[in-house]
Amino acid sequence: TVPLAGHVGFDSLPDQLVNKSVSQGFCFNILCVGETGLGKSTLMDTLFNTKFEGEPATHTQPGVQLRSNTYDLQESNVGLKLTIVSTVGFGDQINKEDSYKPIVEFIDAQFEAYLQEELKIRRVLHAYHDSRIHACLYFIAPTGHSLKSLDLVTMKKLDSKVNIIPIIAKSDAISKSELTKFKIKITSELVSNGVQIYQFPTDDESVAEINGTMNAHLPFAVIGSTEELKIGNKMMKARQYPWGTVQGDLQETYEAKRNEFLGELQKKEEEMRQMFVQRVKEKEAELKEAEKELHEKFDRLKKLHQDEKKKLEDKKKSLDDEVNAFKQRKTAAELLQSQGSQAGGSQTLRRDKEKKK
Ligand code: GTP
Ligand code: MG
Repeated sequence: TVPLAGHVGFDSLPDQLVNKSVSQGFCFNILCVGETGLGKSTLMDTLFNTKFEGEPATHTQPGVQLRSNTYDLQESNVGLKLTIVSTVGFGDQINKEDSYKPIVEFIDAQFEAYLQEELKIRRVLHAYHDSRIHACLYFIAPTGHSLKSLDLVTMKKLDSKVNIIPIIAKSDAISKSELTKFKIKITSELVSNGVQIYQFPTDDESVAEINGTMNAHLPFAVIGSTEELKIGNKMMKARQYPWGTVQGDLQETYEAKRNEFLGELQKKEEEMRQMFVQRVKEKEAELKEAEKELHEKFDRLKKLHQDEKKKLEDKKKSLDDEVNAFKQRKTAAELLQSQGSQAGGSQTLRRDKEKKK
């Protein structure tokens, strides 16, 4: 590291980025690919805890289409521009050979639109609504058996263009042991057909562990529901069956994550506090040391000063003595002189008297 001589201000850059993202909002585009009635709309409603409008499709579509809807969502003060693109009539035709084509065309069209924007001389990318797909949820029918050729062909055609996250739809339809086997089967089929699915990144060590476990769960088994049921004393999204209820444990996971996060935050805060106290203590000790040094210096100077003063006083005293002695001698000398002149005076007087006689 290179030391800085003063404050530059780049420590506020992360804050600036956060502020910018918060004020502009985020943009997220999901593509749901899956057969009619597999629960695409229901899962979106469950995930975002709302009711997006969207008519169920009939099974008599002449071909596959894509339906795109954009919603402005707001949570606290953070905005999310969410685009959900869903297939309509996927898997309903007798000849499914070309079913993937409209999807590929749609994805390519979004790339093309972005490229056109980038090629403009005056680019306004910050105001541009980027419609490129961020994630493709591929809904697999819960057959418990194997992937359909339609699934393999479509995923193979898409895997170089989007992040495919395969999910087993309506996974309440198969038992737990069946599900485990089904997952293994799907994974091996994907691998043997060379289909690349999305892998949560594990190169950043702060998320490596959690992302590693996420990758191990792929393909995700999901259950969607828009029905709210009272479980314990909480309202939860759940599905009710003659033999019991299944809760969409999103809420629980969310709460667990939130608690974990809050705990970590508290720990960090405590650490900061400790560090601060430590720093204050150090500074205090430093100041005390400096004060002590100052005191010592002051004492030394004071002593020096006193010595000097004493010397001067002594000198003054001896000088005074000398002056006094001199004065004494002077008065004595004067006295002597005046006595001498008086004696001389009476002699002349006598001489005058003698002259008169
Ligand atoms: P289209 O838009 O018509 O292609 O259908 P979709 O894929 O959006 O399916 P939708 O969400 O409309 O769900 C179809 C039916 O499946 C509804 O009756 C849902 O209640 C039901 N459903 C959705 N998710 C689940 C699930 O996880 N388990 C079960 N058992 N049923 C589900
Ligand atoms: Mg739907």
